[in-house]
Amino acid sequence: MSQEIWGAVDQYIETTLGLRDDAVDRAIAASVEAGLPQIHVSAAQGKLLNLIAQMISASTILEVGTLAGYSTIWLARALTETGRLVTLELDPKHAEVARGNIAEAGLGPRVEVRVGPAAESMRAMIAAKEGPFDLVFIDADKSSIPTYLELSLELTRPGSVIVVDNVVRGGSLAEANSNDENVVGTRRLHEMIADNPRLEGTTIQTVGAKGYDGLTLIVVAS
Ligand code: SAH
Ligand code: DHB
Ligand code: MG
Repeated sequence: MSQEIWGAVDQYIETTLGLRDDAVDRAIAASVEAGLPQIHVSAAQGKLLNLIAQMISASTILEVGTLAGYSTIWLARALTETGRLVTLELDPKHAEVARGNIAEAGLGPRVEVRVGPAAESMRAMIAAKEGPFDLVFIDADKSSIPTYLELSLELTRPGSVIVVDNVVRGGSLAEANSNDENVVGTRRLHEMIADNPRLEGTTIQTVGAKGYDGLTLIVVAS
């Protein structure tokens, strides 16, 4: 069992379920064209994010790590016309490509891309009493996941859902003595969930076109 079959199964899933359309395909093409790293979620994962947002009837979504706006499009499509998504991105070039993709997908009015270090943006949002957000998707630098979780708790409400991407990373999550700051970050995330009575969560390992990884799902206790 390996990458080849995981990719073939993702292909089957997205084709048979008709997950992709022109807007998401164009977003990837523009991202390739602009020379951005192709580290976005897969179509099946994008649809999962979209379904989670639908399941909780999210009307406010915060995304940490925009890249080309691919996951943003999947998430924002779950919003009604009055729903809003704020997405945070460090790299101005990524933000520019994302804004184009989001506008092309017809989601411009619902989405705001903010440029800067996400932790700083989140602190400014807390100070401005923004939120609460129904759903937070954390998908930026992995070493800062603990910081983003901490700050998310001040931007959410009881019942909010937090999803964290790339927490398994080829199995490195199990490496107790790792010095890799990304691994330390993803392990700390798990300790924070365990230690915080306000948080319930679990991590699901995934394979697919994007390799072997996983995501953590958290509910902020009511
Ligand atoms: N969510 C996207 C993928 C995001 S990739 C998708 O699935 O389509 C991670 C993104 O986080 C990159 O664009 C990177 O520039 C951004 N990033 C890295 N460090 C950051 C920081 N400190 N603050 C905000 N964004 C950051
Ligand atoms: C990386 C980041 C991601 O968000 C992802 O889904 C895969 C890889 C990275 O930084 O390598
Ligand atoms: Mg990711």
